[in-house]
Amino acid sequence: MSLRIGILTASDRSARGERSDQTSPALEDEIKTANWTVVRVAVIPDDFQIIRETLIVWADRGELDVILTTGGTGFSPRDNTPEATLAVVERIAPGIAEAMRAQSLQSTPHAMLSRGIAGIRGSVLIINLPGSPKAAVENFKVVRPVLLHAVELLKNDPESEKHH
Ligand code: MTE
Repeated sequence: MSLRIGILTASDRSARGERSDQTSPALEDEIKTANWTVVRVAVIPDDFQIIRETLIVWADRGELDVILTTGGTGFSPRDNTPEATLAVVERIAPGIAEAMRAQSLQSTPHAMLSRGIAGIRGSVLIINLPGSPKAAVENFKVVRPVLLHAVELLKNDPESEKHH
């Protein structure tokens, strides 16, 4: 099974065109290496409602298995991505965020400053990654080994038994 992935970047500056988005291309490279498909990419402002509404539309259209958000997980007043994600998920997946922070702490204490969460809406897994290309890729590499199995389980796919 190939995964269909959406990359949603929350960044006021990139959405205004003041800074080019280098994080989505970096993630796309990683995703293509795994032979998965990037179906959707967008850059939106760090606005709670816009993030929330975009996540709902993307998750409910049935064209994605995984949504990776990037950015807006820190402590600044405009970092709203975890709250917008919490507002749309039906179930949380704490182990994913725990693993990303645990691994990232090996390289920087700043990993403590990412408030990113992961959760499930319908059969779509939503994962918050930090915003910088380096941090986003580092965190993505932590979850990559479990993504396929996670999505198989969400779809109740009989194939998932093989990966236990
Ligand atoms: N995680 C990894 N693996 N590598 C990093 O360099 N940077 C951190 C953290 N997580 C970092 C990381 C920093 S400096 C911040 S402020 C938080 O992610 C939040 O980033 P965001 O506000 O861009 O989402």
